[in-house]
Amino acid sequence: MSSTAGSAPTLIPRHIAIIMDGNNRYGKAHGLRRGEGHLAGKDALDPIVEYCVETKIEILTVFAFSSENWQRPPSEVALLMQLLSLTITEQMPRMKKYGIRLRFIGDRQQLSSELQEQMADAEAKTANYNAMTLVIAISYGGQWDIAYAAQQLAERVQSGQLQAEAVDETSLGQYVQLADAPAVDMLIRTGGEYRLSNFLLWQSAYAELFFTPTLWPNFTSTELAQMIDEFGKRQRRFGKTSEQIIVGDSL
Ligand code: FPP
Repeated sequence: MSSTAGSAPTLIPRHIAIIMDGNNRYGKAHGLRRGEGHLAGKDALDPIVEYCVETKIEILTVFAFSSENWQRPPSEVALLMQLLSLTITEQMPRMKKYGIRLRFIGDRQQLSSELQEQMADAEAKTANYNAMTLVIAISYGGQWDIAYAAQQLAERVQSGQLQAEAVDETSLGQYVQLADAPAVDMLIRTGGEYRLSNFLLWQSAYAELFFTPTLWPNFTSTELAQMIDEFGKRQRRFGKTSEQIIVGDSL
């Protein structure tokens, strides 16, 4: 994974990740049936994607279904799976219109073969679009991601392709999901909770964190613009001192 550490400060984040929380509370507040808040959540994504394209964000990763979400009531899991399939179908013409590459991260083996095929097809059809990349995390967990990367490295050690001593941040970082993408610069969680919920643990090591009480279906590009503005004002030190950063800035 390439890192933004040490590079010139940028006002615009390259990679934004969003935990889209608050759909069920939105549903309750609007008298919807259980699960229907997710439908509103699906539609809230479109203006955010458009704003990110306009703002020249390189990659937007959204958390649609976590490794732990499998424990929700079966009817809600089934609805979410249907919605994910619908989201992909609805997004395809939009990907073409805006030139957005669609990718997925997560443990695909847990998903139905139909959904897996739909995901692979969407990835293949959009592979050459380069205005932005939209990543949808499905059946994803940060701990699964790191463990899966470790498993692949362990296989290389076992087959003699890699020395155990060569296992370090760089080699492990080459096997985590989105290893070819910039690290997460901004991690946003809507819905008023202050948790990472096992999202992009490795990739967000130096992300700036943003929390808002706004429920995901109510989250707008105006609020995102305010957060990006604040992002530009934060000093990212990546473990260095403030003085080192200021000297580095003036070079
Ligand atoms: C968290 O809200 C949200 C989810 C578990 C699912 C997010 C899924 C969507 C927005 C569906 C469409 C998919 C895309 C890619 C846009 P919650 O149910 O935990 O809400 P709560 O905190 O109010 O209970």
